[in-house]
Amino acid sequence: MADLFGSVVLDDDLHDDRGDDRRDDRREDRDDDPAPVIDLVAGRKTYRTGSIEFEALRGVDLRIGRGEYVAIVGPSGSGKSTLMNVLGCLDTLTQGEYRLAGEDVAQLDEVELAQVRNRRIGFVFQQFHLLPALSALRNVELPLQYRRVAAAERRARATEALERVGLGDRLHHRPGELSGGQQQRVAVARALVGDPDLLLADEPTGNLDSTSTHEVLALLDELHAQGRTIVLITHEPDVARRAQRVVHVLDGLAQDEHSPAVTSPAEGRA
Ligand SMILES: Nc1ncnc2c1ncn2[C@@H]1O[C@H](COP(=O)(O)OP(=O)(O)O)[C@@H](O)[C@H]1O
Ligand SMILES: [Mg+2]
Repeated sequence: MADLFGSVVLDDDLHDDRGDDRRDDRREDRDDDPAPVIDLVAGRKTYRTGSIEFEALRGVDLRIGRGEYVAIVGPSGSGKSTLMNVLGCLDTLTQGEYRLAGEDVAQLDEVELAQVRNRRIGFVFQQFHLLPALSALRNVELPLQYRRVAAAERRARATEALERVGLGDRLHHRPGELSGGQQQRVAVARALVGDPDLLLADEPTGNLDSTSTHEVLALLDELHAQGRTIVLITHEPDVARRAQRVVHVLDGLAQDEHSPAVTSPAEGRA
């Protein structure tokens, strides 16, 4: 699981044409970057099991702009996880185009994908995936450690991220010493600490009681208000309703719930 936060980068060169990764904030380049965060065109994904082929994505077009908060919903088996894996650069398309924050990621190999994940995406999972032996602070430092950010800066940024999610007084607690909602907020801090282009959350409230669910959803609302781009995969209608836009996945195709231009906010969902 650590590989999600970029461990593959550890044994690879960090000094490519993007410059010094120690100064890993690319915000300046981004602020007036008009490229959508997600630009998926005619995305197809075929799984092969022996001689059997199954087309899990059958031509998905999905464009998500900077600052959008989008929920992806759909029944079991519809292709949500497949889509999430593609969006999160955990897997590649069989056919089609995918640009992430303007960068063509459709043809990258494993190592390059890991670098893109580390730099551009913050993941939040249903099961938190925190390392139990490490403090909240050390867990949040991990993505920066994989980027080889110096210790003092790492610590400062992880502390700031934990303060941002309301856990400034829990820096040295281990996951086992925190509530579910607090653990998920640590995971959100870890997702944010590298200042990613995209926050990708897969059923982030699936393991939480209603109080903690409320806590985490309020935090996502706040991050959205601050301009974060959020994609949340969920099967819970109450959770999806928090997003500004809902995309339905059905039989390997994706479609917006309604076109904002022709539908009033209250329609059908009051
Ligand atoms: N690795 C795989 N190999 C073969 N078929 C797969 C694989 N992963 C998913 N599928 C198939 O693709 C379809 C979509 O799966 P998935 O994306 O996991 O759906 P969801 O997350 O919406 O439940 C399902 O029919 C599933 O059986
Ligand atoms: Mg799934």
